[in-house]
Order: sequence, then structure tokens, then C-alpha cells
Amino acid sequence: MAVVTKLQAMRSHSVSAEGGTAAVLYPELGDSFESHIFDTVKGSDYLGDQDAIERFVKAMPSEVYQLEHWGMPWSRREDGRIAQRWFGGYSYPRATFAEDKVGFHEMQTLYDECTRHEGISFYQEWFATSVVVEDGAFRGVLAIDIKSGELLPVAGKAGIIATGGAGRLYGFATYGHGSTPDGLAMGFRAGVPLKDMEFVQFHPSGLIPSGILITEGARADGGVLVNKDGERFMKRYAPERLELASRDVVSRAIMTEVEEGRGMKDEKSGYDYVHLDLTGIGAEKVKERLAGIREIAMKFRGIDPVEEPLPVRPVCHYMMGGLDVDIDGFTGVRGLWAAGEAACVSINGANRLGANSTAECLVWGRIVGAEAAAYAAGKGEARVPREAVEGEEKRVFDGIFRGRGGTDPYDVRDAVQRAMEEGAFVYRTGEGIAKALKAVRALMQTDYLHCDDHSRRYNTNLTNVLEVEALLVAAEAVLACAHAREESRGAHARRDFPGRDDANWLKHSLAIHSPGEPGGGQVRLAYSPVRVTRYQPAERHY
Ligand code: FUM
Repeated sequence: MAVVTKLQAMRSHSVSAEGGTAAVLYPELGDSFESHIFDTVKGSDYLGDQDAIERFVKAMPSEVYQLEHWGMPWSRREDGRIAQRWFGGYSYPRATFAEDKVGFHEMQTLYDECTRHEGISFYQEWFATSVVVEDGAFRGVLAIDIKSGELLPVAGKAGIIATGGAGRLYGFATYGHGSTPDGLAMGFRAGVPLKDMEFVQFHPSGLIPSGILITEGARADGGVLVNKDGERFMKRYAPERLELASRDVVSRAIMTEVEEGRGMKDEKSGYDYVHLDLTGIGAEKVKERLAGIREIAMKFRGIDPVEEPLPVRPVCHYMMGGLDVDIDGFTGVRGLWAAGEAACVSINGANRLGANSTAECLVWGRIVGAEAAAYAAGKGEARVPREAVEGEEKRVFDGIFRGRGGTDPYDVRDAVQRAMEEGAFVYRTGEGIAKALKAVRALMQTDYLHCDDHSRRYNTNLTNVLEVEALLVAAEAVLACAHAREESRGAHARRDFPGRDDANWLKHSLAIHSPGEPGGGQVRLAYSPVRVTRYQPAERHY
């Protein structure tokens, strides 16, 4: 087994996950599978596939215990059992946590476990550029070894795309700068549709000005949101759950406060914000359960949250959409699966609940691993056809490394991020989305595919240009799906279509790779049904 990763594995962005991993651990204390399933369906604004949600919820407890057995340092209750905290949109405190460094400890535990097995090789700082498909079946990937600059085939009998989301479509994002949609673009070009891309999650509390995440765990542990008048405004938007309503609801509330003049402005960055006040939690509890965000706030804003409120604003945090896969994570291309944020199974529908993402990675990591292993077991030697390597060398080295053009790829990246922030932020309009889509399609036509740095070793200029190419692919898919969906559902809030429209839009959007579409795009839209098993769509209240 080989893991090909463009970063050092332990710098992958999952290490930054903070607040929790959801699982039903204490049915005897009042939690239940039924409740986790319902909360997730409701959180998804009824767009999640309910059979997948049920499978997910039932599989989760054993994933928590599996990690525990591999050495995961879960935080503890007084009685020594695994601790859990509240999270937004849940009716029971079922977010299992390790202080506020859940992703770091989970990744460390998994990586540590991998190093115990001789059959697992890590190809770190290898930038995959394409998935190779021949006769409808996966053959491997092509990747640049960043250290040497060589393009090399990595042959495989089966493959899994687990490359995360597309958060760097936005400048203000909780994602690391490496979180670009390279894997989404590779799968898309290989013929896998992108599903539900219009649903982009804006987490309510991105720290001004960097966008670094201030975990929902801070609100779960007693933090409150206040506007410029010192008012705890969530009582007007979600009278029961307040700051722990689902993220789409809280982010819309913050933006409404700002738009109605009750926000504040950070003069340096120009960002509007509200306050997240943790001063009522108490220093001891903050130091014990929220040490990571305290350190972040002090280092990146110069504020100790034990003493002063933090300036926060909705921030791009997660893509509900991703590569279209079935309930087993299968992409439809023989031998190719996808898992985690790169995939859209879909359990998250139009809005993911916090703590369900690291959990989804664990459940579908196991499922697709088993599926891919079973498929590979019956196959002969893996081989990447020579023509695939030659074609990719032409595309990457002739087309980009030795390419020419007057448009700076970094300007293109900034322009994509501006277009997304203007056209597809928390609130959207048809007109705004159309303008952004036009801008992105125009950028796709510019001559940005070239490098200034012509060295082979550690040429991050080359990999950055490949990342910009992937950003454009994902941006077009988000905007095309968002423009077509004339309703408001979960994180997709259209000012011009404020209501949810189940009669016409209870369906998944599919963006299909179709180069040469009119308007300079490469996306054709189609739709697939939502699988409703237990709960008929109902109005959401928090
Ligand atoms: O707020 C948080 O800690 C984020 C968690 C998540 O997105 O699952």
C-alpha cells in the first residue's frame, strides 16, 4: 500500500481539526443512534442520503474505540471514561474530543499505527497531477516528486482519492494554504462528477484577520456571540439552541447583524466582525479544554480570550460537495474510490454538523480501504501505460513548466478567491453568482499556465500553478451548481429564492466534465435523487 501526499503526511490539513468527533457512546445516559441520525438529517436540511447517514452513525462508536486502542489520548470524564462535549445542531453532547486538538491527535495516532506496518509506504512531497484511467479502469496516478522535480508513475491495482476539500477557493478560510482541490480536479477529469458543490460551509468563528478556526467547542463550553451593542443576538435567530444552532444558521445570523449595522469593522483587514466572548468560561476551563485556541488567539491576534472577546466572522471551513460516490465510496470508475471531504457520499447534504467530518473520514476510510483491498486482491501486476506518462509530461512540462503567457497565475488565484467571496459567500443572489461565474470562466481562458521558476528541485511555483488550475475547476463547479439551484437550503442561501423548494430541488446536483461547453466552461449539470428512508423533509428550527 502506498500513500502519495503532496505535503509531509503530518502537515496534511486534518491535523488542524479542533473540536470533536461525533459518536454515540453513552446510550445508557440518554444518547441514541436514532438521535444522531435525526440530528444529521435535519442538519443536512434533508439533502443527506439517509441510508448512508444510518450506516455512518452505527459504525462510529467502534471507530472511537479503535483509535483509543491505537493510543489516541481522548479527554476524560471525572469517572475516567471518554469525555464528550456539546456541538452545534446536536440534541446530545456527543462530540468526543482530545482538548481542542482532535485532528492532531487522530492524525498522529493513525500515522503512528501506519509506521508499525511494513506493507505501507509513504511518498511524501509527491504532487499527484493525474489519475490514470485505461479501458474504464484505474491504473495508477502520475506524480511529481517535488524533491527532484521528476514526473513518475505510481502504478496501482486500486486507488482511493482522499485529498480533502477545496477551501482555498476563498481567501478567508480555516484551511491551510495547501488545501486546494487537486484531487477533486483529477477525479473530475477522469470522469467522476462533482456532486453538491454549491454547498460550502462557512464556520461562524474564523479569527480576524487570519481566518484560523476558533472551535465551536468554545461555544459549546460556554462562549457567547455578541454584537456591537453587547447583545447576545443569537436569541433572536435560534431561541432554543442559541450559539449551538447549526453552522448555516449561526453564520447567517452573524452576517445579518453585520448587514443591519450591528457588527464592528477591523480597519486593517477591512473585515466586519462580531465578538466571540469566552471570558465567562473561566480561565481554568479554557486552559484545560481550549488551550489550542487560546494560544492561537494570543499568537495571531494578541488577545488572551480569558480576558477579552475575540473578533470573528464566518469563514470557509468545509465543502459538503465532492466527488460523486455511492454508499461504499465507489466512484463508478472501476478500481477507484474516494473518501473524506474529497468525496460526497452524501451524509452532509446541504450543511454538515460539526464533529461529523473527522468521523466520516474514519468510517469511510475503513469502508473504502476494505473495498479497494478486496478489489486489488484479485488483480495481476499494476501498470501505468507509457502513453499516459508521455502525455502528462507534455501537459505539465511543455504546457506549464516551459509555458509562456502574460497572466500571473498568482493574480488568477487572487481573482478566483475574490470572485468566490463576492459571488458565493454566506448569502448569494443569482446575479452575483452569474457575475462570479463569468469572471471565473474568463480567467480559465487567460494564459496563466506558465512558471517563472525553471529549477527542477522543490519547484513550488510549478505546483502552485497546478493548484490554481484545480481551483478554477472547482470554482466553476460551485458557481454553476449554485446558479442553477433556485432555492435556499442549508449553506446555500439565495436572497432571490429565500425558501426551500422540495418539490423541485430535493435532489443532488452533479457537475459533469464536459470541455467546450458554451460560455468557455467545462461543466454540464445533471441531478440525482436523494435517498429518504426515515424522515420526510420538515421545517428546521433550532
Ligand atoms: O469548530 C470545530 O472545532 C470544527 C469542527 C468540525 O468542523 O467538525
